[in-house]
Amino acid sequence: MTSASIAAIPVITVDGPSGVGKGTVTRGLATRLGWHRLDSGALYRILALAAIDAGIALSDTDAVAALAGGLDIRFTGDHEDNEAIWVNGRDVRATVRSESTGGLASQIAAAPAVRAALLQRQKDFRVAPGLIGDGRDMGTVVFPDAPLKLFLTASAEERARRRLRQLRAAGQDAILADLCIEISTRDERDRTRTVAPLVPASDAILIDTTLLNPTQVAERIDDLIKDRGFL
Ligand code: C5P
Repeated sequence: MTSASIAAIPVITVDGPSGVGKGTVTRGLATRLGWHRLDSGALYRILALAAIDAGIALSDTDAVAALAGGLDIRFTGDHEDNEAIWVNGRDVRATVRSESTGGLASQIAAAPAVRAALLQRQKDFRVAPGLIGDGRDMGTVVFPDAPLKLFLTASAEERARRRLRQLRAAGQDAILADLCIEISTRDERDRTRTVAPLVPASDAILIDTTLLNPTQVAERIDDLIKDRGFL
């Protein structure tokens, strides 16, 4: 495909900090529009786990980045209940989604070499009829030409509560206060790193979801995508 025909494929970017509900929002959007979805955080998580499996120190970011090309990664399913994440033929979803893996991902995600190694892989998800990009730098770095960019926020306490519900639904447990600290630490690292820090794109629409339930968030976003003629 030519770069012009790739650029014609619409992308909606949904960025924001951990636990803000991007997963729910982006899965819903992908279903309603019939578009593909990129879970970019999963790529950082998978790479961190692959490095540990290979005995590579996460601080050796060039070696971690070098692993990226050799990973065969596939996502299947379209709902939280039937999703699987396949890495070299193994379903690793449970380990990938754990809170501790999120922390490991954010350590390697601060390294320019790692981000560069994953960039093209993320762009390759831009396939017709359209893509919903879920992450931290979808609107700023990976798809800067996206016609609609959303940036979701919510207080750290509310995000910790949401994460706890999500972990419990997946059969895992955690302590709310610990989650709140982990989330705040990860946010701080993501926000203050020098490459692709967690900041809204200048043309992103900010949505504070602290006091909204998932249906209200979806309604607000549907209004925006209708305005743009996507729905
Ligand atoms: O979104 P998720 O919690 O799966 O992301 C895990 C970590 O991966 C984040 O805390 C962040 O450090 C990193 N990440 C990133 N850029 C993205 C997606 C995730 O740096 N686009």
